[in-house]
Amino acid sequence: MLSLGNVLAEGTPNIDEAAGNTGATQSTTPPIVVSTWKMGLAANQAAWEILGNGGYALDAVEVGVRVPEGDPKGNSVGYGGLPDRDGRVTLDACIMDERYNCGSVMCIEQIMHPISVARLVMEKTPHIVLVGEGAQRFALANGFKKENLLTPESEKAWKEWLKTAQYKPIINIENQGYGYLYNKETDPMPGGVDNHDTIGMLAIDSQARMSGACTTSGLAFKMQGRVGDSPIIGAGLYVDPEVGAATATGVGEEVIRMVGAHLIVELMRQGHQPEQACKLAIERLIKRNPVHAKDIQVGFLALNKAGQAGAYALQPGFTYAVKSGQEEKLYTAKSIY
Ligand code: GLY
Repeated sequence: MLSLGNVLAEGTPNIDEAAGNTGATQSTTPPIVVSTWKMGLAANQAAWEILGNGGYALDAVEVGVRVPEGDPKGNSVGYGGLPDRDGRVTLDACIMDERYNCGSVMCIEQIMHPISVARLVMEKTPHIVLVGEGAQRFALANGFKKENLLTPESEKAWKEWLKTAQYKPIINIENQGYGYLYNKETDPMPGGVDNHDTIGMLAIDSQARMSGACTTSGLAFKMQGRVGDSPIIGAGLYVDPEVGAATATGVGEEVIRMVGAHLIVELMRQGHQPEQACKLAIERLIKRNPVHAKDIQVGFLALNKAGQAGAYALQPGFTYAVKSGQEEKLYTAKSIY
């Protein structure tokens, strides 16, 4: 069972563990923030500093996901993210506000907070996406600093991986630490079981403005230049103020194929509750390739404009964090398998 002790500061009030909280949240009055995985608890707390004080949802999601981006113990978001097969940490992120404005960076290197660069792309350029060197140059021109994001632990994990160089995404790698490459007993790595995948965050503020953010270092040991779903508007994230928002985690190729987040928003537009919309999207993924679906994890998280959240995953183990004026909880999503 997950322990919250490592994530939350002492004195953090009553946060329910995942066990016993499987399923959709009750309707809750905004402001509300939801985000993927247990790392979402700390990220939600940062977002709540803004939402709880009447602030803007867009500011909240940016500040929120910067928490795991800056945490070297997490091995699949930002600083400390596992590198590609050439040993390079490449980051993907996108952000979207309540007026369909959006910004994205893909395959950006040596910049600690790609989500903030994505927001600047949205606000300062006529474009939506900047990639690679161009994204980095834009960041540097706007005051970001070049930093080495490859921690000694990630470098060690990469060198270990090179010994076999097998490329097979591992189910619920999100729930494992660097330890999946090591014997945890004899060679424990920072972060342990508290390492997770992509963080996707969705929020509604007290003025009913909805925003979302999504950020990741992508699949560990990916091919140089590979980009997953997370920075792709409509795949890893979509926000529609008329309906709601959705975000995704897991193997991005499968999410891109079905434009997952946008699909879920459209299913909610048709009248489905968030959990049901996520489930239908997961079922569509299975229908396309039932054999492959058994071997991978994909999780979806949705929030409708009324403040109801729900999630669904292929495999057991996908958790999501919710914070509002009424609750602060880590839920375990239902799953097909
Ligand atoms: N969902 C993250 C990725 O596939 O890169």
